[in-house]
Amino acid sequence: MADNDTHEAKLPVKTPGTQITKNGTQVAGTTTELPDKFRISDLKCRELIAKATEMLRFSYTPYSHFKVGAALLTKAGKIYGGCNIENASYGATNCAERTAFFKAVSEGEMEFAAIAIVGGPEGKIMDFCPPCGICRQVMREFCEPENFYIILARSEADYWVYTLEELLPMSFGPENL
Ligand code: THU
Repeated sequence: MADNDTHEAKLPVKTPGTQITKNGTQVAGTTTELPDKFRISDLKCRELIAKATEMLRFSYTPYSHFKVGAALLTKAGKIYGGCNIENASYGATNCAERTAFFKAVSEGEMEFAAIAIVGGPEGKIMDFCPPCGICRQVMREFCEPENFYIILARSEADYWVYTLEELLPMSFGPENL
């Protein structure tokens, strides 16, 4: 590679109300007009978002007051909810996503299809709530980066779908050891 060659970011830029296909092509339109090639249906996304939103009521956040809910779908179709659980020793806090994963894994689940995440100050969903780096890495432990969908939602009708590969590119996982 020549010195003056540049690497271009491969990550797609997304705008609200759009979905993304696996090959990175942005598809305009509402979430009810998803192309067939989406392997997670609009109906399933909405169901997961609804469950994640329900989980906000259990979120324990006396310190940040920022509530997060998650709903994790197994490949077999079971859904595990999760919420963030804070601690007076702040570092002991568990995010909503990891709560959902640890609940599922502790019950023998090892195959996952998707997770929906919602969150906001005092549980009011103002914007998308992307998963933190630690949660992305925990997802990487149990999920195939190109086949695990992360649904970030502002409402059941307003969400983006990413693959784990998109949100955690060039990742380190179990196969690297
Ligand atoms: N939080 C989550 O639950 N998930 C994330 O991916 C981002 C952050 C929680 C942790 C903490 O309770 C609060 O949000 C503020 O960081």
